[in-house]
Amino acid sequence: MKKNRDHDFLYLKDQQYLTTPKHTTLIFENLLKDISFGKDYTSLWDIGCSNGSMLNYLQSKFTNCKFFGSDIIPESIELAKQRTSDTIEYFIDDITKKKNTPIRCDVLISVGVFQIYDDIAKLIQNYLSRSEDEGYILLQGPFNKYGVDVNITYRDNKNTKTNLLDQGGWNIWSLDHIEEEVKKIKEIESFEFIPVVFPDSLKIQHNKEDPLRSWTTNVNGVNQFLNALVLQDHYVVKLKVNKSIKK
Ligand SMILES: C[S@@+](CC[C@H](N)C(=O)[O-])C[C@H]1O[C@@H](n2cnc3c(N)ncnc32)[C@H](O)[C@@H]1O
Repeated sequence: MKKNRDHDFLYLKDQQYLTTPKHTTLIFENLLKDISFGKDYTSLWDIGCSNGSMLNYLQSKFTNCKFFGSDIIPESIELAKQRTSDTIEYFIDDITKKKNTPIRCDVLISVGVFQIYDDIAKLIQNYLSRSEDEGYILLQGPFNKYGVDVNITYRDNKNTKTNLLDQGGWNIWSLDHIEEEVKKIKEIESFEFIPVVFPDSLKIQHNKEDPLRSWTTNVNGVNQFLNALVLQDHYVVKLKVNKSIKK
């Protein structure tokens, strides 16, 4: 069954991160420093960039680099163009489809996109086709650390437009499965799963208007994100790309 994902339109209303970076944006800043972004690598593409808030922050920190942002929602791209630095190049691009621009970047980042789709082998190939011959792909989101792949269908009785039980986009892929898939791809030289640790001081309130929007909660002394669907373990999947290697 084809699933819809009305929830992405709710991000349009959420503009707070245009002025204050998300905790994960700061994590990305550090990961980029770790790979000598700004020196060894100088172009970055945020796939599923929504209103461009992460790109806007990163371009202010790595001023000698070139930044690109894409999304499938035209209203998000328009907002990003209006509200963020005009040094960032934005365009519509669907990561489930073959690349249709000449753009390739040293570093691809993508937050909260991977879990939307069912065919992850194809998705990884689509990311790779947008990457330079050598570089990194950094994918962040909730993953399952227990070896279980989860595919959720839901209806949000307040926000689902069709009123049908037809909403998707919350697959929680297991790290085991990701490992199995990336090991098959010869252009991926190495990979790492980096757990995202949210500090206790990070407190995000439950927004009663939007039960899909994640909030923080203390679970056995650990600050974790939760929404109406799932308690989340977040990771960054870090893929080192080297298209010249032969496995
Ligand atoms: C969960 S939101 C995350 C937005 C942003 N990356 C962030 O972290 O705040 C997922 C974003 O991915 C976009 N998206 C969904 N499917 C996509 C696709 N096939 N290609 C590109 N972007 C997509 C959505 O429109 C939405 O803006």
